[in-house]
Amino acid sequence: MSPRLDLRNIVKRFGASSVVDDISLTVAAGQITCLLGPSGCGKSTTLRIVAGVERQDAGEIYLDNRLVCGPGTHVPPEQRSIGLMFQDFALFPHLTAAQNVAFGLTGAKAENRARAHDLLERVGLSAFAEKYPHELSGGEQQRVALVRAIAPKPKVMLMDEPFSGLDNRLRDGIRDETLSVLKEEGTAVLLVTHEPDEAMRMADEIALMRDGKIVQRGNPYNIYNAPVDKAAAAFFSDINVIRGQSNGALTDTPFGQFLTPGHSDGATVEIVIRPQHLRIDFDRQGRGPNPTPSEGVPARGVVERARFMGRESLVEFRMDQDGSILTATVPAVFLPKPGTALWLTMRRDRCLVFPG
Ligand SMILES: Nc1ncnc2c1ncn2[C@@H]1O[C@H](COP(=O)(O)OP(=O)(O)O)[C@@H](O)[C@H]1O
Ligand SMILES: [Mg+2]
Repeated sequence: MSPRLDLRNIVKRFGASSVVDDISLTVAAGQITCLLGPSGCGKSTTLRIVAGVERQDAGEIYLDNRLVCGPGTHVPPEQRSIGLMFQDFALFPHLTAAQNVAFGLTGAKAENRARAHDLLERVGLSAFAEKYPHELSGGEQQRVALVRAIAPKPKVMLMDEPFSGLDNRLRDGIRDETLSVLKEEGTAVLLVTHEPDEAMRMADEIALMRDGKIVQRGNPYNIYNAPVDKAAAAFFSDINVIRGQSNGALTDTPFGQFLTPGHSDGATVEIVIRPQHLRIDFDRQGRGPNPTPSEGVPARGVVERARFMGRESLVEFRMDQDGSILTATVPAVFLPKPGTALWLTMRRDRCLVFPG
């Protein structure tokens, strides 16, 4: 199946710097792709080019195989069949919720009303159809804005940090609701966010951006578990980094030897592990658990700091061998006192090996 939205080699420069630097990506109908990356990496600029409100310096964009912008072609925004939703969406203040939703519809009046009411019902807002925006809460306005954008059945929905104005507890519910409406409508969605949790919750595919480039594409599971480099790993959670020198395709660490093929002798190797993949064991008269192939050799450390986080505890260790600090998260039933000696093991299948 050919993609609904197809970006090919998009470049945008402001002055001397390429803010969008050769971005290519596709989104299929019914699929949600997330452009994820830190603030300033070029996400919004990319979205604005797709919307047609910004023009690229190079590259082409196709919608259902039709060129909408490229050398010599620029279909204006309103003719692209694109729905927009941004953080600072604005509803028309003098129109009711239902009138807002029906505003962009071109069908017969009764038909438009029916579509507006159907959509409002699907986001739980039937009772608010005749209310004006100032009579609605932030979350309710957000849902009206969503169904208003979806009402004309756009081929593509562009969403730029659409949930960042909402408070945390409200956000999850609205995200899930938004997701199910978008899926039902079968729209292709390009969603921009700087929050990994939001991307993992919403996306079929994540395109991880850095400095105007896509550095990795994949489903949330693969992006999280098989990041391309240390920075990609660190974007999703805190990480621990253990350094060593490769020698004969092996690297010695306090946690035993690691197989590090492909690194030349003497090269620095970084072994990365997320805090939740370190295992903690009690100290038994100066000994830890026995070494195993799957968890390697245990290393002893002393609790420097332990913080209760509700769902889990965050424990910082100062390691006996080299004085380095490692962080582990453990279920919150466990909150060791500072000064406690404990043993750490690394789940080998969760370790990531990168060149230093
Ligand atoms: N119209 C503009 N003129 C000059 N620089 C811009 C313009 N728009 C964006 N930029 C710059 O481009 C970079 C990327 O911006 P943006 O796409 O908004 O990033 P993001 O959405 O990922 O935070 C930023 O450094 C920003 O300052
Ligand atoms: Mg932005």
